[in-house]
Amino acid sequence: MISTTIDGGILAVLADNPPVNALGADLRAALHDAITRASGDPAVEAIVIGCAGRTFFAGADIREFGQPQREPSLVALIAAIEALDKPVVAAIHGTALGGGLEVAMACHYRIATTTAKLGLPEVKLGLLPGATGTQRLPRLVGIEEACRMAVSGDPVDATTAARIGLVDRIVEEADPLPGAVAFARERAGKPFVRTRDRAVAGEAEAIGDYFERNRSKLRGLDAPVAIRRCLEAAMALPFDEGVAIEREGFVRLRDGDQSKALRHYFFAERAAAKIDGLDAAVEPLPVQKVGVIGAGTMGGGIAINFLVAGFDVVIVEQDQQRLDAGVALLRDNLAKTARRKGLAADRVDAMMARLSPSLSYEAVADCDLVIEAVFELMDVKKTLFATLDGIVKPGAILASNTSYLDLDEIAGATGRPDSVVGLHFFSPANIMKLLEVVRGARTSERVLATAMQLARRIGKIGVVSGVCYGFIGNRMLAARQRQAMKLIEEGAKVIEVDRALTDFGLPMGPFQMTDLAGLDIGWDPRTSAGRTIRERLCEAGLRGQKNRRGFYDYDADRNRNPSPEAEQIIRRFAEDNGIGQRAIGADEILERLLYPMINEAALILEEGIAQRASDVDVVWVNGYGWPAWRGGPMFWADSLGLARVVEGLRHHAASLGPDFRLSNRLVEAAASGAPLC
Ligand code: 3HC
Ligand code: NAI
Repeated sequence: MISTTIDGGILAVLADNPPVNALGADLRAALHDAITRASGDPAVEAIVIGCAGRTFFAGADIREFGQPQREPSLVALIAAIEALDKPVVAAIHGTALGGGLEVAMACHYRIATTTAKLGLPEVKLGLLPGATGTQRLPRLVGIEEACRMAVSGDPVDATTAARIGLVDRIVEEADPLPGAVAFARERAGKPFVRTRDRAVAGEAEAIGDYFERNRSKLRGLDAPVAIRRCLEAAMALPFDEGVAIEREGFVRLRDGDQSKALRHYFFAERAAAKIDGLDAAVEPLPVQKVGVIGAGTMGGGIAINFLVAGFDVVIVEQDQQRLDAGVALLRDNLAKTARRKGLAADRVDAMMARLSPSLSYEAVADCDLVIEAVFELMDVKKTLFATLDGIVKPGAILASNTSYLDLDEIAGATGRPDSVVGLHFFSPANIMKLLEVVRGARTSERVLATAMQLARRIGKIGVVSGVCYGFIGNRMLAARQRQAMKLIEEGAKVIEVDRALTDFGLPMGPFQMTDLAGLDIGWDPRTSAGRTIRERLCEAGLRGQKNRRGFYDYDADRNRNPSPEAEQIIRRFAEDNGIGQRAIGADEILERLLYPMINEAALILEEGIAQRASDVDVVWVNGYGWPAWRGGPMFWADSLGLARVVEGLRHHAASLGPDFRLSNRLVEAAASGAPLC
């Protein structure tokens, strides 16, 4: 776990704890041992601490949180490093994160490779940097940068780290060790300043300003508030008093609900990348050229992902006008994406140069992967897949972005159903992180593995789903939307239903979502007969945000107000259908919206559509904005107690509708006390 070499008075301590050198108990003990020995060894004049493998220490071992603490603690190890009276140099490559950066900041100097990244991401786990990071970072980089880094959790690159004073030297080589040893030799025998003895540069107001600027992003989160307290202590109090405040805050957060949820989510995201039962020998297919059919809302966004990731892209439309409009919008959105990612403006031109717009399917003949994003109509998709099958080179993957249609039926229109897969992007496709990878009955393992690898290559989080109406995410969403409609029929106000979910932490409620998408999606005036509230709203000319009249009225700035017209239509609908209206409390609203979603997810698990409960959480956090600090719907249900969910569903049974079916899996888990996750 630790190897040491000494050369000309410089001791190099190399840690090796794959995959990411997390600072687990055994590694801490071994490091502590090496430090203690070095301290008493007169032959050692200076020390370098570095790591083998792909990265410097990526932090504390997250799996140890909640377990009994084993000595030495990270804080004790860090104190021992700093207390050495010989210079200690951290040799950083890969990512120095969390506890890893805290170790580096206790060293007397830091050397980093050009590609290294340094950060305190604890906040993303609902924690604060708990091994003196909140007290050390401000002493090295000043309060303003420290606040930004610790509260956003975003790392800085080596160049920035050098500019702000976090790194003392950047080395060009991939291995930082030789440069760090040379640096240590320069410093051996010379005086140095310990981080704890430095003053904090900057003004305390910078903290308040940062929180003010980021108010909406930080809403509801415990960790940033606790970090703020530590940063204020770093400015006002001696080092050890600040550390005591930090410790108290760390323990409180670690044992709190938000951090448990976020830690669950961390591992859920990593588990989602794994395909159960997949033979390890299966190699993904090479993909470099991608075809996109349809340059509408989704096609343009999908193409952007591949352009940004360095693929060649062909985009095909049915007529010149739509092609031109689609490509123009794509260019605008690509420029926005580039700005957001901090890419130079000329990169947009370079990326656009790799895009080939076309009106002919022949243009995708030599693509390795073709994704269709045409109208959501089975006949259109089947005809298209049959055509593509005859044109696109053998072995190439044919993918559908369908939201609801049966992928197996689409695959059946081709002679290569094993090469057909669903790639269900979420709108806006260049922004949303989720990609549901839909595994058809005949999709080959190799194609599935390729699709999951592609998700990573384009910066998405892939989750495998089986074939069913709406796959994992939209099927659960549909269950929620059905209940939302029932609630307003029974007398809940539109705004009360939406507010129950936004108060819970979701970005918008069901009616805000419907207004945004358009009330008339799938509405046909020829067959509309006032059978649903939605039909009646459409018949009255309400279309949602696009004509500023929907479940809400919208002003020119898209501010919404309750719509008296919609309310009247809803009331009338209830009367005509003999539905009694009453006031419905916020708790009942929330239960009737969320419990049926949990039930639907349990059915999804029962049917083998999702591989594991935590995948459902990954879908909802990344596709629908479920707050990660609530872990995802499955983790939330487990924390609430499944028995309570089942009891609630039974209690509301009469309101849930004739199609509602309680999941056996949910009932059994509730009875046995076993969690879903
Ligand atoms: N503890 C335990 N396991 C960890 C870990 C950690 N800190 N970091 C990563 N792992 C595990 C992952 O779960 C994964 O396991 P698996 O193969 O069984 O699924 C494996 O290491 C590889 O991780 P990734 O798939 O994420 O690898 P990448 O190369 O994509 O990313 C990384 C590497 C950027 C280091 C990323 O893993 C990461 O961001 N890790 C977490 C970093 C972090 O949050 N550190 C702070 C920890 S809290 C802390 O330090 C508290 C302190 O202040 C007291
Ligand atoms: P859209 O209507 O904006 O775009 C579809 C485009 O496909 C149009 O520009 C049309 O001209 C083109 N097209 C139709 N048939 C074609 C053909 N045979 N050849 C070439 N081009 C053709 O639709 P949108 O919203 O982009 O949806 C596309 C697909 O993506 C649908 O299957 C939809 O269900 C799915 N989807 C949509 C989401 C959304 O939020 N809009 C989210 C996720 C999936």
